[in-house]
Amino acid sequence: MAPLGFGGFRLFASTSFSRPINWKLAVDTFCEAYHVPALHRDTLSPMIHGDLALFDAFDDHGRMVAVRKSVSALDDVQRHTWSLLPHATILWFLQPNTVLIYQQDHAQLYQATPGNTPGEAHLQISLYVPDTSEVPDRHWQRNFELLVEVTDQEDFSTAASIQRGFAADAQTHLTFGRNEPALQHFHQRLDELLSR
Ligand SMILES: [Fe+2]
Repeated sequence: MAPLGFGGFRLFASTSFSRPINWKLAVDTFCEAYHVPALHRDTLSPMIHGDLALFDAFDDHGRMVAVRKSVSALDDVQRHTWSLLPHATILWFLQPNTVLIYQQDHAQLYQATPGNTPGEAHLQISLYVPDTSEVPDRHWQRNFELLVEVTDQEDFSTAASIQRGFAADAQTHLTFGRNEPALQHFHQRLDELLSR
């Protein structure tokens, strides 16, 4: 993470709220890209591929690279000289409850903590921008409002309906598939952390 220069970023804005979801389910919503075309059809899907992602584990933590659709527009020459960062959204899963997202020119931090019951989480969303950025604050403000809106109205509201399903007790467990390495890693490592 050091080469991305987060030390030169400042907190632009932060908000927190509670939602009727387990805190782990809040983290889960970031752990795969294939929900993007369905759940974020009009918001993120025009920018991010839902069928490409790379996951790497770093001990308890993990990193997923999602690919922006701009990569598909590279011509034959650019394909030999391109660099990843302008075309990627990079997510770090920092155990146990933090997701840090690098997005080209800013960073988003999501933190989920347990609420009063297993079916409630406190969520904090923060936007960090480079100290040296000359982009007007109104741009970052709009950006912040959009990311909170998308995450809350699309991801967390869907997670809330999943949480309601859990409460029905119809399932004893969930199985994560082979194409869900970030989910597998997060939950396996979390179980291990809890058993230490
Ligand atoms: Fe999402």
